[in-house]
Amino acid sequence: MALVDSFQRKIDYLRISITDHCNLNCTYCSPPFSGRRYLERREILSYEEIAVLAEAAVAAGITKIRLTGGEPLIRKDVVALCRMLAAIDGLESLALTTNGIRLKTLAKPLAMAGVKRVNVSLDSLQRQRFARITGRDRLAEVLAGISAAAAAGLAPVKINTVVMRGVNDDEVVDLAALTFDKPYHVRFIELMPFQHAGVGEYGRLHIPIGEIIHKIPGIDTARVDPFIDNPGPARLCALPGARGNIGFIAPMSWHFCGSCSRLRLTADGKIRSCLFSNDEMDIKTLLRQGAAKKELVEFFASAVQNKPRRHQLSENGHGKAERGMYAIGG
Ligand code: 5AD
Repeated sequence: MALVDSFQRKIDYLRISITDHCNLNCTYCSPPFSGRRYLERREILSYEEIAVLAEAAVAAGITKIRLTGGEPLIRKDVVALCRMLAAIDGLESLALTTNGIRLKTLAKPLAMAGVKRVNVSLDSLQRQRFARITGRDRLAEVLAGISAAAAAGLAPVKINTVVMRGVNDDEVVDLAALTFDKPYHVRFIELMPFQHAGVGEYGRLHIPIGEIIHKIPGIDTARVDPFIDNPGPARLCALPGARGNIGFIAPMSWHFCGSCSRLRLTADGKIRSCLFSNDEMDIKTLLRQGAAKKELVEFFASAVQNKPRRHQLSENGHGKAERGMYAIGG
């Protein structure tokens, strides 16, 4: 079965946030540790519930699942969840987005459980700056985690960098240079206006993707033409002689809504059909009322029909999402 929305987009990708907790506190993603309000335990889907929903989603037409958070690797026994999901008949790919801190220990068990790939967030290669952005002095662990992921065969390791003016924009070249030694994909992401993404400061911090691209000498800009049609939101290119790729993700400057293939499931069991739309559909209640698999499959299909044609964000940050990024999972 295939899921096709009302704008003829094929929807085959589900991102599942499995917790709203995180062991980092990135300035653009979450409120300060002291001001966080977490979901209550009973509100959060159990692993069994996640597996039942994932199975229904796959029966509806989803073929790719990515686990996100918060930080997915701090949820207890996450490897067991991965094993359950990887066993779903018809699922082609299981991946994770993580801050990398726990990867040094978990990369190998995750790979053995059936995880295919990981994306690791990394905004600075400078220890003090990393600590300023994330609220924690954990850069060394993240770098060790990235190496462990590559060693475990979770390839290609993708590194996500949110570029912010006056914060880390002088490191674009250093981060791009990681692709010379290792076959990593380094992806530069435009800052998006979320609740905690520098309230009142968004305009100052946001750097349009064109400006980011031009910081990298030797880049073949013809190859990052936003209209070249490759799957996924990243426009890829490579530096001459590099082993890895460089990618650019520009949710603000380039609308890639036309090729969006995603649905999201929040940790508290709501389906979100657009990252930036506050419309959510409550599948948890249906599940907890004892719905049959068929009803859950139909619910996914109807969520797809509600997917908006495009997001309504403008570059001044108006129309931002009500939940913080940490509660949606990117
Ligand atoms: N703007 C852009 N990217 C963000 N991420 C989190 N918050 C934002 C934001 N405000 C990215 C992180 C992470 C991914 C899940 O989402 O870089 O890698």
